[in-house]
Amino acid sequence: MSELEKEVKRFAETHNGEQVSSYRAVYNVGRHGISTKESTDAYHNWSATYEQDAGPDKFRGPVIAAESVAAFYRTHRDKVLILDVACGTGFVGQELQKRGFKQMDGLDPCSSLLEKARAKNIYRKEFCCYLNDKPLPIEDSEYMTR
Ligand SMILES: C[S@@+](CC[C@H](N)C(=O)[O-])C[C@H]1O[C@@H](n2cnc3c(N)ncnc32)[C@H](O)[C@@H]1O
Repeated sequence: MSELEKEVKRFAETHNGEQVSSYRAVYNVGRHGISTKESTDAYHNWSATYEQDAGPDKFRGPVIAAESVAAFYRTHRDKVLILDVACGTGFVGQELQKRGFKQMDGLDPCSSLLEKARAKNIYRKEFCCYLNDKPLPIEDSEYMTR
């Protein structure tokens, strides 16, 4: 039995079926020893059910992130340029939009998650790449920093 299956079995003993499938997917994308490419492939394989497994009813990360950004920008939110790094399907962008931010771009290496973000029309532009030690296809001063 693989480490993934052992971990899922342990989790399944105390949780219901839907939580088990979410847990399996979350565990899989970040499992110990995984390479960056393997993780992106795992996100790709998860993309069909990602929103169901990691949506707002399960994961408050996007709300917390958006509230934190909003606390820095109390006025003129529509003028602030934001790059949503690791945007996935755009959950953080959606939460930022609800709080009045309008000018956002999204960056994520997983093309299938990014495709779902694109369909929501949240971002002006989507960049399909990693944030790493390589230059981004973006001008240095394009986004605001605080
Ligand atoms: C847990 S998901 C979060 C996605 C989204 N922010 C959300 O709240 O649903 C993590 C995201 O990070 C992306 N990611 C992983 N490594 C990255 C890197 N080096 N640069 C940019 N994005 C990365 C993955 O493709 C995935 O979409």
